[in-house]
Amino acid sequence: MVIKSVKFLKSSAELAQLPPAKFPEFAFVGRSNVGKSSLINRLVNHKNMAKTSSTPGKTQTINHFLVNENWYLADLPGYGFAKVSKSERTGFRKLMDGYLEKRETLQCAFLLVDSRITPQKNDLEMISFLGRKGIPFCITYTKIDGVKPMEKAKNIALMKEKLSEEWDELPPFMETSAEKGTGIEEMLEYIEKIMKN
Ligand code: GTP
Ligand code: MG
Repeated sequence: MVIKSVKFLKSSAELAQLPPAKFPEFAFVGRSNVGKSSLINRLVNHKNMAKTSSTPGKTQTINHFLVNENWYLADLPGYGFAKVSKSERTGFRKLMDGYLEKRETLQCAFLLVDSRITPQKNDLEMISFLGRKGIPFCITYTKIDGVKPMEKAKNIALMKEKLSEEWDELPPFMETSAEKGTGIEEMLEYIEKIMKN
């Protein structure tokens, strides 16, 4: 798919503020600092479309982008960031879970996982949630430029092992680097394929 246009649409702090669900939508989900906003920028080939930061907890709202005038990208707040208050954390969580469960146009959630680390409890919980709710998702490994291939392979194998304990069928896996552009073409093809169905 060729990205012809992209524009920031709006930030929503509550479900009631979400833009009308009139286009197929793809969401970026994952722990704080995993690289959601950076990957979105790489995907749409626009350096500062989604705000990124080296400090976790940058994205605190659901941010919608309209791509090619016919599909939406949604950048979600990250989970697992210790430095927000408990009430804030509950608020983000409600927003995110509510969005994932209720957004009828959601085609796929890209669940971003840091390729440099072993499977984390909160990622496994998120995968469980998506699976239980029947939300289509794809496990998208990030920052592969920053890990030795052996280490990455070990982390992914561990994840597959963990998931096999709960699920008969594994979701699709992708490997990306927002830094190097690895996996971007594959993600765009994946989105295009779903949109054609
Ligand atoms: P929150 O909005 O806080 O949830 O974070 P996020 O998931 O949107 O992460 P963001 O894109 O802001 O990136 C977090 C940090 O990771 C930044 O310092 C980025 O430069 C870095 N980063 C993102 N993608 C990559 C990558 O592919 N490779 C490397 N090496 N660093 C990356
Ligand atoms: Mg972000």
